[in-house]
Amino acid sequence: MSEDAGSEKLSPLARNPLDMISSAHALQVQMCDAMERIADGLPDEVDRRLCGQVASCLQYDLPLHHHDEEEALFPLLRKRARPEDGLEEILDRLTSEHAADNDFASEIAEALETLGQGGRPANPEMLGYMLRGFFERYRRHVQWESTLVMPMARLRLTPEDLEALQARLNEYRRQAS
Ligand SMILES: [Fe+2]
Ligand SMILES: [Fe+2]
Repeated sequence: MSEDAGSEKLSPLARNPLDMISSAHALQVQMCDAMERIADGLPDEVDRRLCGQVASCLQYDLPLHHHDEEEALFPLLRKRARPEDGLEEILDRLTSEHAADNDFASEIAEALETLGQGGRPANPEMLGYMLRGFFERYRRHVQWESTLVMPMARLRLTPEDLEALQARLNEYRRQAS
């Protein structure tokens, strides 16, 4: 960015917070694939480094992302969506999935951390079952957001909304660090 960029109004395309949310979704799809590989390899053929990476993603990145959506993106979108968009119910449902997923995520993260540190799962079958339940559900969650919510956000949010969204996301990261 040029030095005098501050004197001009930034184009919303130059720094679109929706791209940040979409790239989190792309990483979450990779996380689900990694969870599937881990589940397939249980109990002995697991990549321990991958377990540690997924554990950290589940424990830190996912709750922050849910917070971004619930506290910043969804409220802005509820304000702008039109009744014919049918978004209210979808956003309600996604929000209730976040709460359940945060709980499962922290439980799974604990088990994966043990694996990552070289330990054995107390109950590999149960862990496999939990992993599969999680990634299957979460893939659907991301799919809904990518195909329904994000396109609608790109269509309906105004440049001012995007600025407000960016400010909130920055603020949450300052608080989290
Ligand atoms: Fe979500
Ligand atoms: Fe999301």
